[in-house]
Amino acid sequence: MNNIDIQKSHSIATYIRNTFNCEIPKIAVILGSGLGDFTKMVKIIKTIPYADIPNFPESHVEGHRGSLTIVEVANNKQALIMEGRFHYYEGYAPSDVVLPIVVFHLLGIKTLIVSNASGGINRDFESGDLMIIKDHINFTGNHPLIGKNDNNLGPRFLDQTECYSNELINHAKNVANKLDITPKEGVYIAVSGPTYETKAEIKAFAGMGADAVGMSTVYEVIMANYFKIKVLGISSITNLATGIATEHHDHAKIVGTASKISVVFSSWVKQIILEL
Ligand code: HPA
Repeated sequence: MNNIDIQKSHSIATYIRNTFNCEIPKIAVILGSGLGDFTKMVKIIKTIPYADIPNFPESHVEGHRGSLTIVEVANNKQALIMEGRFHYYEGYAPSDVVLPIVVFHLLGIKTLIVSNASGGINRDFESGDLMIIKDHINFTGNHPLIGKNDNNLGPRFLDQTECYSNELINHAKNVANKLDITPKEGVYIAVSGPTYETKAEIKAFAGMGADAVGMSTVYEVIMANYFKIKVLGISSITNLATGIATEHHDHAKIVGTASKISVVFSSWVKQIILEL
């Protein structure tokens, strides 16, 4: 059963609030693989390693550190940064993957910027591009809201017409324009992983309307929508997807490409937050 454990989430939120012991920002950012440089470009206020948080899952994948950090982007504008997420392919239940989002909601987060590394399916994309996620396809075969629903928390049948806030998409585009960044826009398809896709799968996904493929994000976005948290999604295209790429995939290389994109990504996200 993928029921949300609201009691556990409350106790985690209380621990985080007491440990930070300062005002919690209203904006949270989830940093995807290789995008951790963001925290080097801002002032760190306070950090809590996941390992210190009772009942919080631990993240294991290379390129992820696992901590919650309050940063000051500039001029008293702060954000809560989640470095290291929980992936379905690691064996976490969807309810564990979204536990941080439940906690964010309890902490009063109203805007979520979610990022990830993905493989480009759209033939106009190049490795190194940044893509604004305008919609997604949940092709993981699971869903974080399966199970009993507490109608006090959110609706049984959640509308998904605007999973990614149009207002935030327009804002991100305006900021990109000012910074001379030309992001792509597209549909993100999420698979469970942990294998990279086959050529036939990518061909099928292209036919389904997907522009990029990855192994994260959609559960978190669904959960944020459940709590009416506004979402902006940004994908870094770290490689071309199977069959479009001429070479085999290599996780280390993909994380390396994400790190290169990280600087542009970080300055963009910083400005997005500043001007929100
Ligand atoms: N497929 C799935 N997940 C990914 C990829 C990919 O090609 N690149 C980065 N994350």
